[in-house]
Amino acid sequence: MLTEVIATRYVTPLREGGSLPGIVEADDLGTYVMKFTGAGQGRKTLVAEVICGRLAQRLGLRVPTLVQMQLDPVIGLAEPDQEVQELLKASGGLNLGMDYLPGSIGFDPLAYRVDPVEAGRVVWFDALINNVDRSWRNPNMLVWHGDLWLIDHGATMIWHHNWPTAQAAAAKPYNASDHVLAPAGPDIGAAAAALAPLVTEELLTEVTAEVPDEWLVDEPGFDSTDALRRAYVEALLPRAATIHERISLEAEVKASAGPPGWLTDHLPEWPHKTDKKKSGDE
Ligand SMILES: Nc1ncnc2c1ncn2[C@@H]1O[C@H](COP(=O)(O)OP(=O)(O)OP(=O)(O)O)[C@@H](O)[C@H]1O
Ligand SMILES: [Mg+2]
Repeated sequence: MLTEVIATRYVTPLREGGSLPGIVEADDLGTYVMKFTGAGQGRKTLVAEVICGRLAQRLGLRVPTLVQMQLDPVIGLAEPDQEVQELLKASGGLNLGMDYLPGSIGFDPLAYRVDPVEAGRVVWFDALINNVDRSWRNPNMLVWHGDLWLIDHGATMIWHHNWPTAQAAAAKPYNASDHVLAPAGPDIGAAAAALAPLVTEELLTEVTAEVPDEWLVDEPGFDSTDALRRAYVEALLPRAATIHERISLEAEVKASAGPPGWLTDHLPEWPHKTDKKKSGDE
């Protein structure tokens, strides 16, 4: 089970995050980034944060410590922002906390070099969990004390949004051409050789056991939270063994490189030779 702490002070919202996470202090004197159950993205993003964050840590990847945070919305009463007030009101009870890394900076591929071995481990892990949220637009990695840290695993395991098709979805390839570490020359083979054997049924069972029951209850098609935990194990276990064969790092070359027809059909032929003639350039 994740360590449980009680939120004691809402410090400030983190405006970069779409789900409006906040910096919060807790009764263990720690400072955390709090991800709220009342956020529009729903509780499945928190389930994904726990399963993928804990799995990454168990595989030796750096992810800040995760905790369960109890929130009494009263701690946000002095917060002037209406949006934050509403988020806190909707999130009373259990939420997710991630150790706040003070002074960390967002990963910038031009400023921080990642070697092919580490890049391979991150890309292989993202392929395993089907992470669509580690692109150059939104790297979701921090650099802290000279090391690379992974954050934000909410947009992963797409199959948990449609369980009847989960096995088929989990068997699909992973397109890493947009991954922020694709240009670092990731050594996928080395990563798979080192990490895939560690992703055992026992490990996945332990990791899924850390998801609080109340984020798993009442999932249609499952008669217990343990049955749902089992479904996560059954999606990830076979994927770990073979996903390295199905990671593409090259951008797909589109058959037609131009803009779509609906945008250009009504325009005169390009280049506009007629315009030049009219302006007397010849
Ligand atoms: N543990 C941390 N320590 C320091 N800063 C953090 C930490 N976690 C998140 N942040 C900062 O907060 C921002 C938002 O966090 P995060 O990406 O987890 O939120 P989100 O709402 O899921 O975002 P997104 O818009 O990517 O879906 C990060 O980009 C980073 O700048
Ligand atoms: Mg993010």
